[in-house]
Amino acid sequence: MNYPDYRPRRLRRTEALRRMVRETRLSVDDFIYPLFVVPGSGVEKPIGSLPGQFNLSIDKAVEHAARAADLGIPGVILFGVPERKDAVGSDCWNDHGIIQKAIRAIKKAQPNLVVMADACFCEYTDHGHCGVLHNGELDNDASLENLARAVVSYAKAGVDVVAPSGMLDGFVAACRESLDEQHYDQVAILAYSAKYASAYYGPFREAVDSAPSSGDRRGHQMDYANVAEAVREVSMDVAEGADIVMVKPALAYLDVIRAVSDEINMPVAAYNVSGEYAMIEAAAERGWIDRERIVMETLTGIRRAGADIIITYHAPFAAKLLAKQRP
Ligand code: PBG
Ligand code: ZN
Repeated sequence: MNYPDYRPRRLRRTEALRRMVRETRLSVDDFIYPLFVVPGSGVEKPIGSLPGQFNLSIDKAVEHAARAADLGIPGVILFGVPERKDAVGSDCWNDHGIIQKAIRAIKKAQPNLVVMADACFCEYTDHGHCGVLHNGELDNDASLENLARAVVSYAKAGVDVVAPSGMLDGFVAACRESLDEQHYDQVAILAYSAKYASAYYGPFREAVDSAPSSGDRRGHQMDYANVAEAVREVSMDVAEGADIVMVKPALAYLDVIRAVSDEINMPVAAYNVSGEYAMIEAAAERGWIDRERIVMETLTGIRRAGADIIITYHAPFAAKLLAKQRP
């Protein structure tokens, strides 16, 4: 395998040769597209820090879901901004809440589209924390009881996959038990297993108004310096019944995605989060980087690290690029 007998450039000579020996393939099948659902009708309000993404009323979310389906994107993940917030986030388990209504409307219009719903309380509590507070601290087990109610309510509405995102201990077991008890054994769980306390969620918190009014999430989300702990977290979630495990964010955590996918024999998802999207969009808007090339390179990198599924705001854009690229 030495020069000049071996010349690696031989297989880089033409696009057809490069295509033939390509190790990682990006496909529209890999993508999940996030949608932000808000009260009202006819609402399609641009999110300032996420150019090209919107706060959508249910009728508009149905349109955006249809567009994603037409592009071949297999699924969407829903985030809700409720009509009213309170101390425990009770609208999250309201059978007629924003997410429940959105699930019903989208499943009705697009029965073949995978509908996932994020399950956490930070969008629903008036203090912006991910559950019930007790003496200013997140009460893990009290919050689990509410989470169990919320996912059953999502299941009743027809969701395909629930995605608990609060990084509470035991959150997957709480979801699995309550779903099975209510005979929703076919509803899958995508666990936000290794979710880091990250500054990359900034634009998302603007989109759903979920920034904590005091303190932060470092008491439950992971310390970004850790990777062995991520593998532990993922193993626990698998033992508790997760169907898909997730690492989040993606780009500063490619080594975590690799460690998890080497260790775990389950589908691995990566969340290419709001701040990662916003950075690309901001630089592309200024003409400092080539948006099309950067998006393909970034998403391929996440796949190469070991992700089977990518949740990304670039899903429709990348789907169009992939369709165009097909020779
Ligand atoms: C919590 C949740 C967050 C994201 C997804 N689910 C934010 C947080 O933990 O504060 C972040 C997604 C993104 O930044 O794109 N419900
Ligand atoms: Zn939360």
